[in-house]
Amino acid sequence: MHGPTLTIGHRTPEGELAHTSEVPQFGLGTFLMKESGLCRQACLWALEAGYRHIDTAKVYENEVEVGEALAECGIERSEVFVTTKLRSLDATSYDAVLEHCQASLERLGLEQIDLYLVHAPPPDIDCRAEVWRGMEACLENGWTKAIGVSNYGRHHLDALMQTARYGPSVNQVEIHPWLQRPDLIAATLEVGAVPMAYSPLARGHKVEDPQLAEIAGAIGCTPAQAALKWCMDRGYITIPKSSNEQRIAENLAALDLDIEDQRDALDVLEENYISGWDPTTEP
Ligand SMILES: NC(=O)c1ccc[n+]([C@@H]2O[C@H](COP(=O)([O-])OP(=O)(O)OC[C@H]3O[C@@H](n4cnc5c(N)ncnc54)[C@H](OP(=O)(O)O)[C@@H]3O)[C@@H](O)[C@H]2O)c1
Repeated sequence: MHGPTLTIGHRTPEGELAHTSEVPQFGLGTFLMKESGLCRQACLWALEAGYRHIDTAKVYENEVEVGEALAECGIERSEVFVTTKLRSLDATSYDAVLEHCQASLERLGLEQIDLYLVHAPPPDIDCRAEVWRGMEACLENGWTKAIGVSNYGRHHLDALMQTARYGPSVNQVEIHPWLQRPDLIAATLEVGAVPMAYSPLARGHKVEDPQLAEIAGAIGCTPAQAALKWCMDRGYITIPKSSNEQRIAENLAALDLDIEDQRDALDVLEENYISGWDPTTEP
């Protein structure tokens, strides 16, 4: 295994941290890997290189290939951490959550997911508490080791905590040097969750940014590596996507960098740049 692990858990109304587990802080994202064989191959390259965390979702339509790679890679199941997500359109009721969690387990070919996330705040506000109750049932049933949310804004987190028996262990949101979201990070930490940075390369939109190139030159690394190490050093779970064998290895090698001298230069790249969608601002 390459890289640090973080402890995640679920804040109870009594203020305790329940159902704790260890998550490899660095992982492989698998969005836009629908083409047959692509995700399986990328996961196999990543696992061979030393990745021990794969982030998938029902909507990525590649859970089956993630499962195939896990079965083929020759690494013990307990050594690899798998995150998957409940599609927000499926987040309609308590029963629907249980049904879709089981369906993900089946597609992955696993007995237990490591981290199951609500992909985005369910569109129907009135069913959000019930959906979270379903997630808690998945946790208590042992179908997943941890539960969390994705794309939740402060107001979504606050509402969830009103009725939660277990708070979310992570909040997966877009974060990178160009979108640092201090208030959302604070809100995430306040409910006992760890921030999980998706699109840490701003979907590749910023890897040719001249300012980033200058910073990377000063560190002696590639632009992507500088951005990834910034996320890691902030303590966020970081899940860059690549389906290219060299870039998969390049991204992992970012973990060995020392970016201390360029940290201030990276910090000032902030420009509130959203590379994808932003459900955190929805009602
Ligand atoms: N919860 C959510 O709503 C949500 C939303 C978005 C993403 N995610 C998760 O987060 C993961 C990462 O986010 P993302 O896929 O949106 O974007 P990303 O990781 O920020 O960027 C991926 C893009 O950067 C390119 N790239 C990767 N490594 C590179 C390198 N070293 N140098 C230059 N280009 C490089 C990739 O191309 P190649 O593949 O050709 O290398 C791809 O085009 C996703 O895959 C998914 O698992 C979650």
